[in-house]
Amino acid sequence: MRNLLVTGGAGFIGSNFVRHVVDHTDDAVVVLDKMTYAASPEALADLPEDRVRTVVGDVADAEVVDELVAGTDVVVHFAAESHNDNSLRDPWPFVQTNIVGTAVVLEAVRRHDVRLHHVSTDEVYGDLELDERRRFEEGSPYRPSSPYSASKAAADHLVRAWVRSMGVRATLSNCSNNYGPWQHIEKFIPRQITNLLSGRRVKLYGAGLNVRDWIHVDDHSSAVLAILDRGEIGETYLIGVENERANTEVVRAILRSLGHDEDDFDRVSDRVGHDLRYAIDPSKLRTELGWEPRFADFDAGLRDTITWYADHRAWWAPDKQRVESAYAETGQ
Ligand code: NAD
Ligand code: TYD
Repeated sequence: MRNLLVTGGAGFIGSNFVRHVVDHTDDAVVVLDKMTYAASPEALADLPEDRVRTVVGDVADAEVVDELVAGTDVVVHFAAESHNDNSLRDPWPFVQTNIVGTAVVLEAVRRHDVRLHHVSTDEVYGDLELDERRRFEEGSPYRPSSPYSASKAAADHLVRAWVRSMGVRATLSNCSNNYGPWQHIEKFIPRQITNLLSGRRVKLYGAGLNVRDWIHVDDHSSAVLAILDRGEIGETYLIGVENERANTEVVRAILRSLGHDEDDFDRVSDRVGHDLRYAIDPSKLRTELGWEPRFADFDAGLRDTITWYADHRAWWAPDKQRVESAYAETGQ
């Protein structure tokens, strides 16, 4: 049994990971979360109190982080500002939480000699062409496009520097686009589902040819747990399930599932600097750690996710107008 500190544990992926830990291990979890607009404490509400304790606090607050890290065996660092579009409107929270916050975590794990797993994104590698076969690998060069991906890239560099020069015991993972329950409705898939469920129209950026490599959030969580259990210190693991889809394909699948004509969507202003294609080669994770995904059927996972949003209207509906008003300001 380990004591885990999970930063950002009330967010979309962090809360899924905490549930995964409760279901699959004997570990106890302390969640450190600032409870920003993106947090869903509801996602943790039914978890046993003797296994999961929540502390509301900022990952960039050195005093709070130091105190929590002191009583911990492993830190799993999810806390971040996570939405590209927000980073284009106001980059400062991204610099503060994603870069300064990670440095604060690194200093605390260094002081207390605690193992760290740093959760990152494939977006640090920039984008790929639509018509090339190449995919991201652990050694791909860093070429981030947005303030979000640049801030995550900076955080990854800090972690590697603290491993090499400060003796910190850390692993890193870079995962592709996640979908599933409790994802904030500002993100692509839940935005379109909740648009249709609330009588709005689907909004596709630009030509919609951009490709994302979608993974169910449960598979991201099981991969992080595999890295905690079997990953080698200092190593980076790419997480993905080889599921590339163009944005047009995804919106058409959502429209069909909810009984609409599959061409019944609006094309809106494109994202500035919009990355064309992300694609992960997950061979290292699969061969070296023996990890296998459980939710490889994207169409089934998408249908379950649509049902979940239909069943959880009380959670997302109060925030819907605010999110859409913010998008309207940029013509999206
Ligand atoms: P999210 O926005 O849903 O959740 C982030 C959580 O972090 C929220 O609960 C928020 O309150 C908390 N948080 C924000 N600032 C904080 C601070 N200063 N101190 C403490 N807590 C703070 O994000 P997510 O989609 O769950 O992403 C989690 C992690 O996974 C991030 O590091 C992200 O970069 C990474 N990631 C996400 C994806 C994806 O598709 N969503 C893919 C790969 C990697
Ligand atoms: P998003 O969920 O923001 O993830 P990321 O930027 O990390 O890939 O967006 C996924 C894709 O969907 C991306 O190509 C932008 C596009 N998109 C739309 O077409 N319409 C939307 O309303 C949103 C939010 C995103």
